[in-house]
Amino acid sequence: MLSSNPSPMAQRGEIAKAAPFLKWAGGKTRILSKIRPVFPEVYGRYFEPFLGGGAVFFDLRPPAGAQLSDINGELVNVYRCVRDRVEDLIAHLARHRYEKNYYYAVRAQDPATLSPLARASRMIFLNRTCFNGLYRVNRRGQFNVPFGRYTNPVICQQERLRAASLALRQCTIGQLDYATACTSVKPGDFVYFDPPYDPISSTANFTGYAAGGFGRDEQERLSNLFARLAELGAFVALSNSDTPFIRSLYSEFRVTRIEAPRAISRNAAKRRSVYEVLVTSA
Ligand SMILES: C[S@@+](CC[C@H](N)C(=O)[O-])C[C@H]1O[C@@H](n2cnc3c(N)ncnc32)[C@H](O)[C@@H]1O
Repeated sequence: MLSSNPSPMAQRGEIAKAAPFLKWAGGKTRILSKIRPVFPEVYGRYFEPFLGGGAVFFDLRPPAGAQLSDINGELVNVYRCVRDRVEDLIAHLARHRYEKNYYYAVRAQDPATLSPLARASRMIFLNRTCFNGLYRVNRRGQFNVPFGRYTNPVICQQERLRAASLALRQCTIGQLDYATACTSVKPGDFVYFDPPYDPISSTANFTGYAAGGFGRDEQERLSNLFARLAELGAFVALSNSDTPFIRSLYSEFRVTRIEAPRAISRNAAKRRSVYEVLVTSA
């Protein structure tokens, strides 16, 4: 176990082990080796405005910290608790148990009535035990993913949470729309966008991360921001699905095609590789 005041060397060792602690649709873990070589080696500040599971942030571990944000308030609260109160969170997670009726009782709780710590603990518990690690809410913003069947799921990944806490220590973490999150970007900064993807087919429209969805008008708004930040002199990178629409939005930038195994699909038989793109400003 890592002590609460580790030496700087021990801290570096622990931070090196940091990795995503949530299952998140569109997580980049499986394609890190393909996108990493395209990223800049030297940059000012790092911005990740569609944080999700944070796979790219944990892989990069920017030495000067990072500006992390997401529109999902439950998710942002989890990151803040992991950063600021990791031992309290670990203790709280120990209260949960993997059992169907208990799952539905926790799912029925209104997060607005809970303390930030209990909310974070509830979110991690649901994420570790729900069907496929999905995050989906109904029109009223209530989490509605069914119970998942696992053999002894690990609800509290203690060491992973502690390593993540150290990696997050230098970071600002906000609940923001991506455009607001980018208002302070300066020349030389690095911005990585991993938005909800443009659907590759009419049945593959998994964009339900947040009430309201992320349609084509949003993809256009994002591409305009991408162009403005590139013009400003930031290094900008973006992942999205490889569709004619996305290629048309980024035709003036460098587009690399990447093969990506997909983990989340309603139908197990459809869980196969798809192609996506990595767009970069330089
Ligand atoms: C594809 S996921 C990010 C995956 C993540 N990079 C990973 O590795 O797990 C997209 C994220 O965008 C967030 N999001 C959706 N609309 C947004 C908006 N307008 N501004 C900021 N974040 C948004 C969702 O809450 C979701 O977490």
